[in-house]
Amino acid sequence: MTQRSEFVVVANRLPVDRVVGEDGTASWRRSPGGLVTAIAPVMKSRQGAWIGWSGASDEELEPFEEDGMWLVPVPLSALDVERYYEGFSNATLWPLYHDVIAPPVYERKLWDAYVRVNRRFAEAAARVAADGAVVWVQDYQLQLVPAMLRELRPDLRIGFFLHIPFPPQELFQQLPWRSQIIEGLLGADLVGFQRPGAAANFLRLARKLLDGRTSGQLAFVGDRAVRAAAFPISVDVRELDALIADPAVRRRSEEIRADLNGATVLLGVDRLDYTKGIAQRLQAFGELFRDGDLKPGEAVFVQIATPSRERVEQYRLLRDAIEQQVGRINGEHAELGFPVVHYLHTSYTRDELAALFLAADVMVVTPLRDGMNLVAKEYVACRADHRGALVLSEFAGAADELKRSYLVNPYDINGLKRAMMDALRSEPVEQGRRMRPMRRRVIEHDVDRWAREFLTALEEPQHPDQPSAR
Ligand code: ADP
Ligand code: F6P
Repeated sequence: MTQRSEFVVVANRLPVDRVVGEDGTASWRRSPGGLVTAIAPVMKSRQGAWIGWSGASDEELEPFEEDGMWLVPVPLSALDVERYYEGFSNATLWPLYHDVIAPPVYERKLWDAYVRVNRRFAEAAARVAADGAVVWVQDYQLQLVPAMLRELRPDLRIGFFLHIPFPPQELFQQLPWRSQIIEGLLGADLVGFQRPGAAANFLRLARKLLDGRTSGQLAFVGDRAVRAAAFPISVDVRELDALIADPAVRRRSEEIRADLNGATVLLGVDRLDYTKGIAQRLQAFGELFRDGDLKPGEAVFVQIATPSRERVEQYRLLRDAIEQQVGRINGEHAELGFPVVHYLHTSYTRDELAALFLAADVMVVTPLRDGMNLVAKEYVACRADHRGALVLSEFAGAADELKRSYLVNPYDINGLKRAMMDALRSEPVEQGRRMRPMRRRVIEHDVDRWAREFLTALEEPQHPDQPSAR
């Protein structure tokens, strides 16, 4: 019998990914990306159910308990993975919502798969949610779920949060299925975005669709009011605090520095994604050696890139391009025993990441567009010593809060070079002056506060001045 829950999270992925080894044995490992980093601690403290895909195809799995969370797998066939996940989610919506950095693919069969799979998630949520439960739907892969779920279960309180940017009207209008997406989202009671500009973009589109029936943050659909607002996501400060207090993590951080022979360490940590501006930061760094501003052995760039969406063409092209670029930079500028760039195409544990953050003199976060970017906040949260410097793209949501970072336009390579040099030459006093207020901001606005504020707003009755609102 299905166990019913008062609080249900619906996300494309479960927090753990099923991996089947060459000998056929299956195991679970942490899923990639910022969504899992943010939602997992929220779920652990609220004891709800998490509905999502296991990361494997053609597998029917029973619900199970993991790390204090009740996980309900939704099956995807190989065709669903190809058309709904790799296709409409990551070859259509992802590039469209990230400023069309890569050309979005518009294909009707991908859209059909998106509708089909969104319905499956909505049906699973309808089965798992208790009477009057709160259901929190996550991210761009599931934008049709709010309306589908409302039709099945009008008794539920439905929230939706978009982890990635929401594009301006001029770009969004390219999408052949633009009205269906807006209608899907309007099925929620509360639609949350990372930045106020994204909420405004959505409300402008809703206003068009609803013939002007919007007011302030509210859109009116029949007798319901839907609120759209910004709720900037954050990191689990308590988890990071525990990691940096761990003597093993500290020892590991010293080891990393020793392995790098005392060079000034610049660090990049990303999913290998074309939105992250990895090529731009490496180009800027390489040019600093070409220009004679840096010498091999004086500074080193450590770039960690988690493999991501490897069957999507743009990601394959990116991987080849980055590998070539790293080879070229090292070929031209490294000296025996002193590489200029260390490139590691792999995923690390949270302990190893914390050790890397502690070892890095300069954290370089240069996305061309990013909903928030949790890596920037994780670095700041880990620098309890108020040392280190953050170079941050003004096109990441995190730039709204981390204003004392070295803010850059990642398309401006000369600007990037200047910011990197300023950051790596900064004195401890200057580092403290910048890091202290940023760290305070992250501590005061951690992921728990983000979840509390969203869920409190979701429970609130709608605007009292609006007679058409319930
Ligand atoms: P996105 O959601 O686009 O991947 P974010 O920066 O918001 O980007 O979140 C990425 C999350 O994944 C962070 O919690 C970060 O620490 C983690 N992460 C990124 N790269 C790696 C890696 N190579 N190994 C392990 N975790 C990683
Ligand atoms: O936060 C953006 C996001 O796309 C999440 O929705 C997703 O879980 C994560 O990045 C990692 O991507 P993927 O699930 O495609 O590996």
